Amino acid sequence: MIAIGSASMDAGTSTADRLARYMRPGTLSLAALPPLSLYVHLPWCLKKCPYCDFNSHQQADTLPEARYLEALRADLEAALPFIWGRRVHTVFIGGGTPSLFSPAAIDQLIADLRARLPLEPGCEITLEANPGTFERERFRAYRAAGVTRLSIGVQSFNDAKLQALDRVHDAAQAKAAVAEAREAFDTFNIDLMYALPGQTLKQLHQDLGQALAFQPPHLSVYHLTIEPNTRFALDPPQVPDDDTASDMLDLIIERTAAAGLERYEVSAFANAGHRCAHNLNYWQYGDYLGIGAGAHSKLSFPHRVVRQIRYRDPATYMTQAIAGTAVSQDDEVKRSELPFEFMLNATRLKEGFELARFTERTGLPLSAIQNQLQQAKERGLVSLDLAWVHPTARGFDFLNDLQELFL
Ligand SMILES: C[S@@+](CC[C@H](N)C(=O)[O-])C[C@H]1O[C@@H](n2cnc3c(N)ncnc32)[C@H](O)[C@@H]1O
Ligand code: SF4
Repeated sequence: MIAIGSASMDAGTSTADRLARYMRPGTLSLAALPPLSLYVHLPWCLKKCPYCDFNSHQQADTLPEARYLEALRADLEAALPFIWGRRVHTVFIGGGTPSLFSPAAIDQLIADLRARLPLEPGCEITLEANPGTFERERFRAYRAAGVTRLSIGVQSFNDAKLQALDRVHDAAQAKAAVAEAREAFDTFNIDLMYALPGQTLKQLHQDLGQALAFQPPHLSVYHLTIEPNTRFALDPPQVPDDDTASDMLDLIIERTAAAGLERYEVSAFANAGHRCAHNLNYWQYGDYLGIGAGAHSKLSFPHRVVRQIRYRDPATYMTQAIAGTAVSQDDEVKRSELPFEFMLNATRLKEGFELARFTERTGLPLSAIQNQLQQAKERGLVSLDLAWVHPTARGFDFLNDLQELFL
């Protein structure tokens, strides 16, 4: 990425100066701006999980709810000139553990967003919730506050596996959380992980059986990754080998299909009408404004695509955001990097992408990816017709190989 200015010089730059740089002439030409989503990051958890590299921090004492909401308001207000006149298609309140925030705080947050942004009618508003951070009334209160979709981080329904992951909840709490989400919401998601420490195919079978018994309209299943700078990286647990993990993925595909869920993205399975519109916008290389500690944004302008990052440490973020300077770094996506960025997202979708969308979202001609697409076709990784590119089953299995062609 090209730094629009060095990170240190950029930190205190005013919104007006940033906007002037984003709007200046350039070699790209985007005919129309893509749909815009809003991401709101709430960075605290009861305890840091040993596999997690998200910007999440163990809650020390009481949550500074009011001050954090003030910071989010100031952050959003300073960011409005970057998205002037654009409607917001989806909102995702993620973390961390957003369900640590009281329903009253979430109600205030959504009111603050609505007062400052034109949300599309019927806009999807997702909130991430952890089992064990709620009471029965809490989910209903989130719903009343305007949340339309709950995403529950279950990971596993097996007590021994939850302990191996050092989760704060047990299987009974996970089941209670899903049962309540089902009652309170028209649509919800369960997050599971597989290839867990010491996990057998039979145990995964049981986890899937338990998840599917709730008939979730959406299920996300992620391969546990050992991320650098996590406790698991320092002291790695014994996880299933690649062959077993591959058998596990086959089992996931088979069981979800038998339950009528469509694998519309590499890790996401949904009933008709229940896909996650927010994540779809990411995968279709749409725009998103991310507010909150460490949040990332991707914003298009007539002649460039820009990435912004906000201060990562919650206390620093709050101070900076309230002073109107939440952005710690911004970079322009280089012309040469746009094809890879686009393909990294678009190839995750079963339906692939319309060729015209590549030009619309990157401002580049199709010739920028034509040779690589041809190579991908010859290697059986995609199928091509006049208007669309679809990853093949082989392309989905060897996604890294497919994506690397566009590096
Ligand atoms: C942003 S996290 C937050 C969800 C919520 N705080 C929780 O932990 O239940 C969203 C999801 O990412 C997945 N995830 C987190 N770390 C992972 C890792 N190292 N490997 C695979 N999936 C991971 C988990 O399934 C988690 O539910
Ligand atoms: S609860 Fe979720 S966000 Fe928090 S540390 Fe654990 S995995 Fe990360």
